[in-house]
Amino acid sequence: MARYLVTGGAGYVGSHVVLALLNRGDDVVVLDNLRQGHREAVSPGAELVVGDLADHKLLRDTLARGQFDGVLHFAALSLVGESMRDPMRYIAENLSHTMWLADAAVRAGVRRFVLSSTAALFGLPTRIPIDEAEQVAPVSAYGESKLMAERGLEWADRIHGLRSASLRYFNAAGADPGGRLGEDHNPETHLIPNAVNAVLGLGPPLTVFGTDYDTPDGTAIRDYVHVADLADAHLRVLDKLVDGPSCRYNVGSGTGASVMEVIAAVERAAGRPVPHTLGPRREGDPPVLVASNERLRQETGWSPRLGALDDIVGTAYAWRARNPSGYKGMAVKKEAVSA
Ligand SMILES: NC(=O)c1ccc[n+]([C@@H]2O[C@H](COP(=O)([O-])OP(=O)(O)OC[C@H]3O[C@@H](n4cnc5c(N)ncnc54)[C@H](O)[C@@H]3O)[C@@H](O)[C@H]2O)c1
Repeated sequence: MARYLVTGGAGYVGSHVVLALLNRGDDVVVLDNLRQGHREAVSPGAELVVGDLADHKLLRDTLARGQFDGVLHFAALSLVGESMRDPMRYIAENLSHTMWLADAAVRAGVRRFVLSSTAALFGLPTRIPIDEAEQVAPVSAYGESKLMAERGLEWADRIHGLRSASLRYFNAAGADPGGRLGEDHNPETHLIPNAVNAVLGLGPPLTVFGTDYDTPDGTAIRDYVHVADLADAHLRVLDKLVDGPSCRYNVGSGTGASVMEVIAAVERAAGRPVPHTLGPRREGDPPVLVASNERLRQETGWSPRLGALDDIVGTAYAWRARNPSGYKGMAVKKEAVSA
């Protein structure tokens, strides 16, 4: 059994990783300001500390409470569009929070650190699938902020021996197959939850951005990785860091799905059409982004178990259909049960 601090553990990806850590018997403390996250997303069994990463004393005090074996850092600003309106805030916040957290970890004698990084740091890639040797050239301030955080962690290793893994996620999607957790962002910018909301009448019709790409059906192709598989990748990488060097992995299913294929999968899950309109391309959106997950597979034994698009979309649909108001509705249900 190991003990981990998970920042952003009340958010979408973090909450699924917390569940996976608890399931294997680890001890988890979540630090989250609940700005985007949800108290109800923190599984029973994990301790929740409500606070902000800007509070350096809180970071040091939390890490001083018992020996932690590692830190998993999910908490960040992560909206690409917003980052292009407010680049200084994104770079300042995402970089400085990572660095002060790493500083607190080093002071507390923590040896392992996992960063939620992103495929956005590849910008407009030169080849598909995208492997770890692809050049990094972000085209958004968000991507740049994560690249800087990765580079800062290299120094934490070089000078202090803090071993880190930067996991460059492609598109995290889906929900806990057990129905306990799901995706509940506000605003929601991701395709699958927006298509699910549209089909359930919980959101506006979906807009398809671009129908004239050089792809088989003209819509953009992305790599969707099930959030439970993503969680499994974190567990494997944490174990690898015990006696392995710092590392970087691209984490994706290794296959691509077009916007139209996602819509068709949502229609299969719901049994009715997804209301949608066709719009122009968004600036800076490449036609195809698909990961090579070869390195992750070979070095950690990981492989996606819920890689099929119908598994990803099916679990996302099931959670939202059962929780139309998201976690807010779950809190109300819990209150009704205890009243
Ligand atoms: N979701 C994806 O597809 C995706 C893809 C690539 C990378 N990522 C990265 O993965 C991480 C998690 O993504 P997510 O979709 O789960 O995001 P999320 O917004 O659901 O979760 C982030 C959590 O961090 C918390 N948080 C944010 N700033 C904080 C602060 N200053 N102090 C304390 N808590 C704070 C939020 O309240 C939220 O609970 C992010 O770092 C994101 O950049 C996500």
